[in-house]
Amino acid sequence: MLTKELQEYYQNSKYGEIRPELKHAISISSGCSIAIDCGCGAGANIGHLISAGFEVCAFDVQKEAVSLCDERYASNSLVSLSVSSFGSYVYPKASLIVADASLFFCPAGEFDQFMEKVQKSLQPDGVFYGSFLGARDSMASPDYKSEALWGDVLIFSESKIKRALNNFEIHKWVELEVDGFTPTGEAHHWHLFIVVAKISA
Ligand SMILES: C[S@@+](CC[C@H](N)C(=O)[O-])C[C@H]1O[C@@H](n2cnc3c(N)ncnc32)[C@H](O)[C@@H]1O
Repeated sequence: MLTKELQEYYQNSKYGEIRPELKHAISISSGCSIAIDCGCGAGANIGHLISAGFEVCAFDVQKEAVSLCDERYASNSLVSLSVSSFGSYVYPKASLIVADASLFFCPAGEFDQFMEKVQKSLQPDGVFYGSFLGARDSMASPDYKSEALWGDVLIFSESKIKRALNNFEIHKWVELEVDGFTPTGEAHHWHLFIVVAKISA
């Protein structure tokens, strides 16, 4: 059963804005046109990936999120959905892997496994697009109500991300620090690292 906060989050993020960095990742990807959306939530990025010509494999640990995506995309044979976590998902071969605002909640013990699987899944020239939570984000503060959302958060520094992407060539690196609002309308200090990277040959 979803918390009130999560129900609101999924309703309000269904048609969320597509980040320019995701558009950039799409523009530099080539190959099989299979994208994996990791932690797909209510599926805003799935819709964009389909319209960009991708077959989309998407997963989320929250079964209600996957049900929402199923309602939206059930009639689309280009979309396959699974309830799964970063470390346990069986990653098909892909030309683009997307993890948008979802690695914030990756269990610490699953992250290395996730990165290994990403590298095995990506075809030559495959592209990874991900956003990571920085130490000054509101969710990194002791006041963050982890139980209302998806539990503990995973905080990254620039050097930790660069180590994880050791076998990639970084094409775009954005450190975003700005006051704004969450999709549910709460004031929030965002501190994010947004990365587009191509797997090294
Ligand atoms: C902030 S939402 C982002 C959703 C979507 N990527 C978007 O940009 O709209 C974070 C999502 O990550 C999912 N998530 C949390 N922990 C996860 C895990 N261990 N494995 C896969 N997904 C997870 C949540 O269920 C949630 O749908």
